[in-house]
Amino acid sequence: MKAGYAYQNYINGEWKSAQGESEKVINPANEKVLAEVNLSSPSEVDEAVNAAKRAQLFWKTVPAPEKGEMLFEISQKLREQKEELSQILTAENGKPIQEARGEVQEAIDMGFYMAGEGRRLFGQTVPAELPNKHAMSIRSPVGIAGLITPWNFPIAIASWKMFPAIISGNTVVWKPALETPGMANAFVRILDECGLPAGVVNLVHGAGETVGNAIVEHEQIDIVSFTGSTKTGRLIASKAGSMLKKVSLEMGGKNAITVMDSADIDLAVDGILWSSFGTSGQRCTAASRVIVHQDIKTELEKVLVKRSKELTIGDGAKEETDVGPVISRQALENIHEYVKIGRKEGELLCGGRILSEGQQGKGNYYEPTIITNVQPSAKIAQEEIFGPVIAIIPVENFDEAMRVNNDSAYGLSSSIFTKDANEVFRAMHEMDTGIVYVNAGTTGAEIHLPFGGTKKTGNGHRDSGTASLDVFTEWKSVYVDYSGKLQRAQIDNN
Ligand code: UN1
Repeated sequence: MKAGYAYQNYINGEWKSAQGESEKVINPANEKVLAEVNLSSPSEVDEAVNAAKRAQLFWKTVPAPEKGEMLFEISQKLREQKEELSQILTAENGKPIQEARGEVQEAIDMGFYMAGEGRRLFGQTVPAELPNKHAMSIRSPVGIAGLITPWNFPIAIASWKMFPAIISGNTVVWKPALETPGMANAFVRILDECGLPAGVVNLVHGAGETVGNAIVEHEQIDIVSFTGSTKTGRLIASKAGSMLKKVSLEMGGKNAITVMDSADIDLAVDGILWSSFGTSGQRCTAASRVIVHQDIKTELEKVLVKRSKELTIGDGAKEETDVGPVISRQALENIHEYVKIGRKEGELLCGGRILSEGQQGKGNYYEPTIITNVQPSAKIAQEEIFGPVIAIIPVENFDEAMRVNNDSAYGLSSSIFTKDANEVFRAMHEMDTGIVYVNAGTTGAEIHLPFGGTKKTGNGHRDSGTASLDVFTEWKSVYVDYSGKLQRAQIDNN
């Protein structure tokens, strides 16, 4: 998209410019302006909610298998346009093109999976206590869903929320991140081309403080699903909570990889590099702590530092790039501040610089950074940095490793590298996060299992998997008495 072009809203099946100012969309690889995005106000949210409200009356009556057919078509189109979508993603977000293809694939997978749900949406049928009586539970839509999604996985996370919302009969008002509006528009254009009825999905661009807030506070929005920072999530939860809205939150992480003395060191290093420096550490699931058994610490560090230095840092649009830029100047500086603190809290093994020379100086590049001998309580071992920075924490044994892993305010993802079968099963039970990996890094969740975390990462809900249907549906328990007489439960059968 050329500079000067402004991404519009999509409300009631029409592309429309918002009334407000525009903001520039920047390619983090070179700080060039890609396009602009129109900023909306609460009145556009209101318009979108009205469209969603009208559409919901009809959409909830469309048989789910028919909705599923539409989702199949949408997923098929996403698949056909995978390369084009991946390139938009890399340009706006900076992630290496191979990772962008992986992310678009995640949305495709979610689409096909939820399309299949159109023929399932299982409830329960159970025996009734009394004769000639039928008892079952069915799912019904919550109503209008307000979706607020981040820039780090702008299509995958949107798909985790939007597809379960619409297959189960909700309609949607979506506010994507301002950094990645082109991705959102490309996604919605596909929904439109596939004939999704007007008003089922409405897209409103704008800032969190205005548009996001208007979504959260709108009386007619029944459920808010948000992925982003813990600070914003907390605000959303308190506002939406006081209005008795359903709220599903997916927030920060401080994920750890534990490497035990029996581990295959090269494999562990592969896992650490991928999970810590992939997406430049800007995944909620990124590994930012490495807990290592003291007996293999020296060897692990040697291999890890060597391999880190070999990584190709550059424009994600190039196939050979391993680590792309971070999202913005602001992020770059924020990461650097943490590294300055980290240098006092531990010992810098490699990295630690903003790359300012040549081509790299034009974008937002941070050197993959490793700091060792960090205390579990240190700031860089406790706070989410959202950049390519690892804190190595040595431990004496398995029990200590588990204690350190769980010593975090967050609880998204954990990993352990070990060949000891007892440790595998103990870790599976003792790690207190929503996701656990064995002999793999902390990233790479598949869409057909629940995605989410414990403690301050979430508020008990999950994205993706059938768990996401629980977010976007209400349970309705139905009793049909065909005995022809009044039968009193708990009384007539006792
Ligand atoms: C995120 O970082 O918010 O498991 C999402 C993963 C990806 C999704 C990450 N499938 O790392």
